[in-house]
Formats: sequence, structure tokens, C-alpha cells
Amino acid sequence: MRILGIESSCDDTAAAVVEDGSRILSSVVSSQFATHAKYGGVVPELASREHLRAIVPVVRLALHEASTRLEDLSAIAVTQGPGLAGSLLVGMTYAKALAFVQGLPLIAVNHIEGHIHAVVSQNPVEFPALALVVSGGHTHLYEVREGFVYRLLGKTRDDAAGEAFDKVGRLLGLGFPGGPVIDALAQHGDPRGVRFTFAKMKGNTLDFSFSGLKTGVLRWVEAHDMADEIEVRRALLKDHPRPTVEQWLHVTPRATLDLVASFQSTVIEELLRRALKSADEIDARSLVISGGVACNTGLRAAAKSARLPCPVFFPEPGLSTDNAAMIAAAAFPKFERGEFADASLRAHANLALA
Ligand code: KG4
Ligand code: ZN
Repeated sequence: MRILGIESSCDDTAAAVVEDGSRILSSVVSSQFATHAKYGGVVPELASREHLRAIVPVVRLALHEASTRLEDLSAIAVTQGPGLAGSLLVGMTYAKALAFVQGLPLIAVNHIEGHIHAVVSQNPVEFPALALVVSGGHTHLYEVREGFVYRLLGKTRDDAAGEAFDKVGRLLGLGFPGGPVIDALAQHGDPRGVRFTFAKMKGNTLDFSFSGLKTGVLRWVEAHDMADEIEVRRALLKDHPRPTVEQWLHVTPRATLDLVASFQSTVIEELLRRALKSADEIDARSLVISGGVACNTGLRAAAKSARLPCPVFFPEPGLSTDNAAMIAAAAFPKFERGEFADASLRAHANLALA
């Protein structure tokens, strides 16, 4: 039972073939990093154009690497949303056309559900599970019950965790996306070097807020005369689109390393505190942490050493950030239940999971 997954919700064009819901036969991701990096963020119009360019070769390569012909497929799965409307449309139109031509069932997958399945499909996750999805667009806590029934427990009220990493990265002249660079530099700083204070949140205590922390970093930068070092880092980025950690360390003073380490550890504390609280509330038997920010080494280490009421599972390498294997994996239970979409399926930029 092989499903071809297609994912184009943001700035990666991805296709994958997954057998029986968990065996990944291929997973191709064509990154648009080079296109967007110089703008310091994803430019939607450019993203759609790049998807158009990449979708055919990416799907072909995924089939080729999986030694799979179109005739060997049982279904085609595609990300319906959430994401950038124009980007989603490329994958959606292509998947629909391919399914129609091949006479294959089409399965619509929510991108967030994909992130959860990146972990669930590869690990002995038990239910009810608590899923923390942390990416550039999401910071959501879900209860996941047997049969993949979702209940939203909390979410960010402003920036997503990955967005906070990206904004702080941009502010400090660390390029885009900020997450991986901050992760690497934080390992060289003191996480207790800078203290950030928060306004107490009212209402749902399982909600997140990262805009105050982002402002805290901005205030610190304003108070510490950092213009020159930021300029030097921006100049480094002009010559080297992807500097090495050593290159970053040469142009980043100790105090700034402490700043990024403190920022990161504050994000991690916020994430884990609420994850633990909700895991307790729903009597979770597993904790699933997924999405691009789940790559973060500090978050992984903190979650592994925290006193958790249940085992914690992270995505395997290559399955944290956007990919299509997670979309094909998430489609498998839908295939078994006969949950197929028809030609009227539409991409949905704000599609909710629960
Ligand atoms: O899941 P993803 O690829 O795309 C979305 O659905 O948003 O996540 C991308 C996000 C970016 O904000 C990026 O900065 C963040 O994940 N990210 C990280 C790390 N690697 C990627 N954040 C913190 N630490 C990392 N190592
Ligand atoms: Zn994602």
C-alpha cells in the first residue's frame, strides 16, 4: 500500500512515497532557501513561482527514489492547509490532476496533522497523547485520542515559537531562518545571562505568547549599543549565504551569545511548562513534540531531562521541518477509513485541525 504525498504549504516543495503508513521509501524536499534568504523571510509570490518550477521534478524524483511507478500507487495525499494560499494551490492542483489522470483516490491532509504523524508513524506512541506542534507558523497543544481525534488545548496568541526565533535572528543580523543559527550559537552562551520578564497571561493558561519576549530582546539590543556587531554579521551574510558556526562565533561577542542562549532557554521553558501542565491534565501516555522547532537541540535535551509523566517522542532527522513523508503517513489512516476527497477539494490557508 503505497501513498504518494505532496506538500507545498510554505517554502519547501516536497514529495514522498510511504508504504503502509510508516515505511518511508523516499522523501524529497526542494528548499527555496536561496530564493528567500536575502529578503529575510518567505516572499509568498516567489514561493508559488518556485513551487511551480519544482513540483514536477520533485514528484518524479520521489517516485524514482522509491522505485515506484504511478501504477504502483494506492492513493495521492496532499496538504490542504494551513499555509500560504498560492503555495498550497500548486501542490493541490498538481495532486488533483495526477489523481484524476491515474484514477487514484485523493486524500486531503492538514499540515499540522502531518507534523504529528511525522512522529506517530515512526514511534510507539500511546494514546491519549499530547502533541506540541512548534513551527514557523504554529505553536499548538493538542490532545490526540485513539483514531486520531484532536482537541485543541492551547495555542499562541501572537507569534509562533519558530517565528520568534526567526524575528530575533533577523534583529540580531543572523539571517533567515533564525532557528538553526540561534540553536547553534546558544550552545556557546550562558542561558542565565539575561533575564526576561513577562506580563502574566489572563484566560487559558495553556496558551502561549512570545511577543513580549521578542520585545524584551529588542529592548536589550537597544540598551547595549549593538549596531556595529549587527552590521558586521549582515556583511558576513552578504558574502556567505550560510556561514558556519565558527564564522558566526568570530563576529558574535560573548554578551550576544548569552542573549541568544537566554532567549532560547526562555522559549524552551515556556513550551515545556505548558506541555507538562497539559500532559497532566489529559493523563497523557505519550508526549509528541513536532514541527521545525522540534529540531532545537536545547528543546530536545530539556525535554529528555525534564521529569515527564510519560515518554516523549521527537521526529527523526529530516522529519521535523516540512516534508511530504509526514503527509503520506497522515493519509494512511484516512485511506483505511475510506476518507477520500473529490474534485471539489479546495486549498484552505487557515485550515484548523480542531
Ligand atoms: O515546520 P517548519 O519547517 O515550517 C513551518 O511549518 O513553519 O518550521 C520552520 C521553523 C522556522 O521558524 C525555523 O526557524 C524553525 O522552524 N527551526 C528551528 C530550528 N530549526 C528550524 N527553531 C529552533 N531551533 C532549530 N534548530
Ligand atoms: Zn510545517
